[in-house]
Amino acid sequence: MIEFNNVGLKFGDTRIIEDLSFSINRGEFFCILGPSGCGKSTTLRLIGDLLRDYSGKITIAGKSPTECWDQMAYVFQNPRLLPWKNTLDNAAFGLEMRHPDMSKEIRNEIALKQLTKVGLGSDINKMPLMLSGGERQRVSLARALSLEPEIILMDEPFSALDPNTRRILRSQLVQLWQDIGMTIIFVTHDIDEALELGDRIIVLGTRPSKVEKIINPFEKRPRDVDISDELRNIKKELKLVFENLAKTKVN
Ligand SMILES: Nc1ncnc2c1ncn2[C@@H]1O[C@H](COP(=O)(O)OP(=O)(O)OP(=O)(O)O)[C@@H](O)[C@H]1O
Ligand SMILES: [Mg+2]
Repeated sequence: MIEFNNVGLKFGDTRIIEDLSFSINRGEFFCILGPSGCGKSTTLRLIGDLLRDYSGKITIAGKSPTECWDQMAYVFQNPRLLPWKNTLDNAAFGLEMRHPDMSKEIRNEIALKQLTKVGLGSDINKMPLMLSGGERQRVSLARALSLEPEIILMDEPFSALDPNTRRILRSQLVQLWQDIGMTIIFVTHDIDEALELGDRIIVLGTRPSKVEKIINPFEKRPRDVDISDELRNIKKELKLVFENLAKTKVN
């Protein structure tokens, strides 16, 4: 569904990405893993049509990202809620931006459905300050789901949360993905998180980044890295890859 062919990108004179090639299947839970600064967010922004000045070719179902922006929704590390709007209005805000002609009633109906899916159906009148970090991130997920996107782009969405909340949100996300069947592209620098979530994981190297490794865990979900021999072995291997990358000189 998504193809990167020899994609390269520079910021000024610095080459960030070089010869980056990979493909993502429709309905796949695809993780992009790599050390800080390697270009994970940049890669996601290229897919999401937030960066257009690149070389090589990127296609989404045969079209350019610019032609497909309305099939995608973003979830960022920071939930980006508007402090003066309640939970329902925040969840409906993506629809308000994308479909200004849609009536408020319909927008709210869709947003309420998605808030219920993420477990916040009875918190719709709360303001962002009254929500926990995990709940705020759920609102941001409901906002993305309300757009009914084919592709959800997630950039370290759980990394600011405590380990327990992260674990709960990860398993809820897997459940939603299994129910809805959208394609998820999930950026993380956390090996365990990638192993728990991904159908496939690409590891990006240091700048200029390209694909260091592609991992394809077979373990059935729900997954637990601590009790699965397969995942524990892949984790060992990935830790070595990370250690070697840390020794590589960044250009
Ligand atoms: N707009 C920009 N202008 C100049 N350099 C940038 C810009 N955006 C990103 N960079 C640089 O590109 C490189 C890759 O950044 P990117 O945000 O993609 O990394 P990342 O892998 O997401 O890192 P992290 O795990 O810390 O979020 C970094 O060295 C960063 O400083
Ligand atoms: Mg990043």
